[in-house]
Amino acid sequence: MKLASANINIMVKACRRASKILIRDFGEIENLQVSLKGPGDFVTMSDKNVEKILIEELNKARPNYSILSEEIGEIKNDDEFKWIIDPIDGTANFMHGIPHFAISIGLEHKKEIVSGIIYDPIKDEMFLAEKGNGSYLNNQRIRVSSRKDLKNCIIFTGGPKHNSDDKELTLKEQKNFTDKVFIPIRKMGSASLDIAYVAAGRCDGFWQRNLNYWDVAAGIILVKESGGFITDFSGKNAYIENKTIIASNSKINKEMIEVLK
Ligand code: 2AM
Ligand code: CA
Repeated sequence: MKLASANINIMVKACRRASKILIRDFGEIENLQVSLKGPGDFVTMSDKNVEKILIEELNKARPNYSILSEEIGEIKNDDEFKWIIDPIDGTANFMHGIPHFAISIGLEHKKEIVSGIIYDPIKDEMFLAEKGNGSYLNNQRIRVSSRKDLKNCIIFTGGPKHNSDDKELTLKEQKNFTDKVFIPIRKMGSASLDIAYVAAGRCDGFWQRNLNYWDVAAGIILVKESGGFITDFSGKNAYIENKTIIASNSKINKEMIEVLK
């Protein structure tokens, strides 16, 4: 079984083409030209090249769709369909030669994410999901885990940035989780892969503050289609507006909300 709708094929093709640049650049990371976008937030030439290829491919196949992408922002078109793109999620890992980052593309239809791809080019792992048709890792169906006691779970998170207004709050939340679980919480450095790992049952639960839409768009449909839950910190659906997200299996969502209270 595999996902093979027209839009999925377009996303897969775009990712495969863009990932060639990413893999090549990862191999010669020291020679990369690097520019500073803001404190702690590096944007590489590679980032921009990957974005350019993704937009080129997606635009060629679907010229009327709108686009929201991390580096260039919005390209306004027909608003019914919108690609949500993060050319490199896990930029800091990428820059430091740590092989854990991904290309992430979500497709929005009438404000709802209906399909998503998260592609880890180094491990050649492609996570795909489509509304109503399930979630897949390299053409194998994936499901969230079934662990139900938070204390036995492996939990991922990210942040805080050094200059974040929520730094103390975020560290408090990380302490609260640390007090709850036997396995130390993990910060892998790529939010999209964290969420994809929840969908694949590798990680039981993930929470994070202050993520952008492109960090989570594709992950949302992956987790929903693999039987998991996506909520904000109060268990509601306002995870984009509130910039607080929990992605978990179906058993521990409530307990995670308790810890975050
Ligand atoms: P990026 O690599 O695309 O910048 C690291 O914790 C993860 O969170 C990465 O996926 C990073 O995405 C993302 N991230 C984006 N904005 C962030 C923020 N304000 N604070 C912490 N992490 C952020
Ligand atoms: Ca990025």
